[in-house]
Amino acid sequence: MVKLIGKNKIFCAVFISGRGSNLKSIYKYSRKYSSKINLKLVVSNKSNVEGVKFARKKKIITKIDKFKNKRESEKKILEILVKKKIKLICLAGFMKILSGNFIKKFKGKIVNIHPSLLPKYKGLNTHKRALENKERFSGCSVHYVTEKLDSGKIILQQKVKILKLDTPKKLQKRVLKIENKLYPRAIHKILSAT
Ligand code: GRF
Repeated sequence: MVKLIGKNKIFCAVFISGRGSNLKSIYKYSRKYSSKINLKLVVSNKSNVEGVKFARKKKIITKIDKFKNKRESEKKILEILVKKKIKLICLAGFMKILSGNFIKKFKGKIVNIHPSLLPKYKGLNTHKRALENKERFSGCSVHYVTEKLDSGKIILQQKVKILKLDTPKKLQKRVLKIENKLYPRAIHKILSAT
């Protein structure tokens, strides 16, 4: 699927909309000698969020686009992705839904992290729904992005036990810690398999 160019690391872009804890963990991974990515670009649809501030501090090229006109925005972003020779896109809390056309252009090269044990609880409010349904476990999944929301092939998943006194907020916090470890592992896995 994603091809490594010789021994070099491939150029990677991370798409965000907010806090950017997964962006930070991907960045940390990218700085390791053994990592297979070079984090070249951060795309955000929000300008003043923590993730953008972090990217700027680390001097990563940052593209802000509010997605007021999706077609136009995607066109501009695609141009930058091609120009920067990006070979892998990691969605990390990116709150815009990419068009089928965009996804086709990067087929098999877009991955996402989702805070549930997919195929359970696609979409939003995953923790609240898992608690309401009295699940014993929640968790997170890294998967390929296809045109169908949160439905592409799963790369890695990890369970998190639901505790008696859990609230959506408490659960979200514990799952996020696991997400931050799982995402780099999933990236490493897909790039090692090629
Ligand atoms: C994470 O929970 C991720 O699973 C979901 O959005 C959240 C983003 O968090 N898609 P962060 O911005 O990476 O901290």
